[in-house]
Amino acid sequence: MRHAVSRGLICLALCGFAGSIAAQEDHGNDKPAGNDWVSQTTQTCASCHGKNGVSQTPNFPVIAGQHQDYLVHTIKAYRDGDRENAIMAGQVQGMSDAQIKALARYYSKQSGPLHTATAE
Ligand code: HEC
Repeated sequence: MRHAVSRGLICLALCGFAGSIAAQEDHGNDKPAGNDWVSQTTQTCASCHGKNGVSQTPNFPVIAGQHQDYLVHTIKAYRDGDRENAIMAGQVQGMSDAQIKALARYYSKQSGPLHTATAE
């Protein structure tokens, strides 16, 4: 009986310890980049780039249907200051690589009025 109780205590201590490590890792880990985060964030992007990245005004580029790699590269460039634009830098500052990749994946899958160059 006594034995069982102490085993229970050890488990409690170990499990609690493991739990707190997991919590710490979660905390320090990448920021959320799942579907919920993407759909919330793209609502902000939509105020300039239009619904699903299809901008309705020439002031804002169409980003729907652009290649994912290009979008990742461009958004990182704004975040890291390699491409200077005060508006866009403010939009994407502090984003993790995983978040940028998730946004790029989302917009690359939207159909946009992009035209591919033809060799003539
Ligand atoms: C307040 C308006 C505004 C918001 C909100 C906004 N953008 Fe932009 N975005 C711009 C403008 C203006 C440019 C063109 C900047 C330039 O000349 O480099 C741009 C450019 C871009 C480009 C480069 C397009 C290209 O082909 O070169 C990408 C990619 C982009 N935005 C993604 C996003 C994403 C993703 C979000 C949401 C997190 C977002 N933008 C939110 C205004 C905005």
